[in-house]
Amino acid sequence: MKNRLFVSLSLFSLTLSASALTSCATQAELPVSNSAPVVQLSPLSPATEEVEKDVPYVPTPQAVVQRMLELGKVDNKDVIYDLGSGDGRIVVTAAQKYGARGVGIDIDPQRIQEANANAQNAGVSDRVEFRQQDLFDVDLSEASVVTLYLLPQVNLKLRPKLLQQLKPGTKIVSHDFDMGDWKPEQTVEVDGSTIYVWTVPEKVPPNLLKG
Ligand SMILES: C[S@@+](CC[C@H](N)C(=O)[O-])C[C@H]1O[C@@H](n2cnc3c(N)ncnc32)[C@H](O)[C@@H]1O
Repeated sequence: MKNRLFVSLSLFSLTLSASALTSCATQAELPVSNSAPVVQLSPLSPATEEVEKDVPYVPTPQAVVQRMLELGKVDNKDVIYDLGSGDGRIVVTAAQKYGARGVGIDIDPQRIQEANANAQNAGVSDRVEFRQQDLFDVDLSEASVVTLYLLPQVNLKLRPKLLQQLKPGTKIVSHDFDMGDWKPEQTVEVDGSTIYVWTVPEKVPPNLLKG
């Protein structure tokens, strides 16, 4: 259901605004006086190790994960990349059910820990890898299937990179959000979610290389 991520996004934006405000407040208060009491703003003040995310964490329901993998025609020859991999469920399911190799990328170290634990529980740690990294910095050239559950503007920003780095024939499967004027070859509804599917073409129309 589209609302799932949009509702989270609204909360996420509010949290970011609150963090920005408290950060300004902290900076404004520091120079006032050396003897002024130190103002503790937690839990709203941003922890130094806090990561800046482009999308909040909302997991894809398992029925939708299953359908995304079917639509991506994932099998044991595939290398699947999930960009913003959360608890790793898409990559872990691809390895467990279809014998695929998988790489999950997430900027949040907590998600990477959860994903590694889930891979271990599922007995697929030898076939999957989770990297704490910004999805915009990843080399995608070895992927044969890419899955996304991001946001419309993040998909659009990512589009040139997908089209430049992925091999022709690579499948891209996105939960709930499309890629603007790059029309999907398939659109499927599952339990209130929409799944979009594209195949990277041999010749990329120049207009699609604009983010
Ligand atoms: C909506 S969740 C999707 C999780 C998983 N793909 C799924 O479908 O269950 C988006 C994920 O992207 C991660 N994320 C957000 N911005 C990111 C970035 N710039 N680089 C890598 N991961 C990011 C978040 O930490 C979150 O786990």
